[in-house]
Amino acid sequence: MIVRGRLLSFLRAPHSAEDHEAYRYIEDGAIIVRDGRIASIGAFCELDFRDEVIDHRPHLILPGFIDPHLHFPQVQVIGSYAADLLEWLEDYTFPAEIAFENAEHAARMSNAFYDELLRNGTTTAAAFCSSHNASVAAYFEAAQARGMCAIGGKVMMDRGAPEALCDTAQTGYDDSKAMISRWHGQGRAHYAISPRFAITSTPEQLAAAGALAAEHPACFIQTHMNETRSEIEAVARLYPNAEDYLAVYEAHGLVRDNSLMGHCIHMSESQTARMAEKGAVAVHCPTSNLFLGSGRFDYFGLTHAGVKAAVATDIGGGTSYSMLQTLDAAYKIQQMRRERLNPLLSMYWATRGNAECLGLEGEIGTLDAGSMADFVVLNAAATPVGALRMETVETLDEELFLLQTIGDDRSVVETYVAGQASKPVN
Ligand code: GUN
Ligand code: ZN
Repeated sequence: MIVRGRLLSFLRAPHSAEDHEAYRYIEDGAIIVRDGRIASIGAFCELDFRDEVIDHRPHLILPGFIDPHLHFPQVQVIGSYAADLLEWLEDYTFPAEIAFENAEHAARMSNAFYDELLRNGTTTAAAFCSSHNASVAAYFEAAQARGMCAIGGKVMMDRGAPEALCDTAQTGYDDSKAMISRWHGQGRAHYAISPRFAITSTPEQLAAAGALAAEHPACFIQTHMNETRSEIEAVARLYPNAEDYLAVYEAHGLVRDNSLMGHCIHMSESQTARMAEKGAVAVHCPTSNLFLGSGRFDYFGLTHAGVKAAVATDIGGGTSYSMLQTLDAAYKIQQMRRERLNPLLSMYWATRGNAECLGLEGEIGTLDAGSMADFVVLNAAATPVGALRMETVETLDEELFLLQTIGDDRSVVETYVAGQASKPVN
């Protein structure tokens, strides 16, 4: 199969909107797909065979978006009115997650979840499931049915939540262990050991999570940290001997180079330095941070200190499945800090940047030969507003900036997963 269009793939993080060495752009390009992978890319005119061409000109083709932090059991929580994180969790999120004990409900929601990701051009997700095994099965089965790369795991939580959501240190360990052997490395599935956050795990449970992590170094770890001030105060009360929030996770062996730490907004210098030293990833969730009023992520402070930063939706604290909308919110948060993300950097971030944070840049996040054929076809002129503005757009970075500013699922012409056109029709 040959897919023709304007190809854009990043080679590294762009330093500025003029950093044209950071990417490869082919105006009339072709992707040759073989067995679900990218066999090669190049100029269409250099091809010596022309059969089976899917022509997406004049649209832009990018690697599929990667969403490295969201919650699949929160598909029905999006847009719930709450004062802040802790109220939102208690009033809406925990009650909604209880329903995922039911396999039928979990299966229906997981299908809706992946349909929404694909509608928005997202081809890889790293998500928290609920604390129930049924939700993990539903999560990975629905990804497998679509041929998608999925990272996920059962949330471990043994206190501070309704009884029906709580496991124990031992059952959390046993169930996670069983699911690691069932799912990790099966096709495109990766398991993430997932203690929810320090408030909902006893020290015994964090120790159990740490033991699992030590036994399974290739598994990801995902959790939340330093999202809101009141969360941090609660953690300080629950772990009075810890120097700070990060120290709680460090003490239990949960901070390493494949640890995905959600939010990381209210960071001290020391925590920033330790994150950098351990190679852990700070996952920025801009629409969620705005929605819950959590705070303004210090992108430049963290990255200049050497912390790896990813960007994600955090559905359902986040308010959009669209990584374009997510980049727009990230841009606006930096604007409020009087700092600026350039449009090339933003688009790199949602593709190769997130892939590098996951250590999966050989598989996803670029259009390099050998990668999986996961890509998205984008049209900045898909809406009347976009079409009108596109009349005046002259450069690639202007087009990308427009896409992230006004784009959403309507800008996604098609989403390819392992070479298969996969955007849901309805
Ligand atoms: N911290 C602990 N659980 C959650 C969650 O579900 N969403 C967000 N945004 N923060 C959390
Ligand atoms: Zn989250």
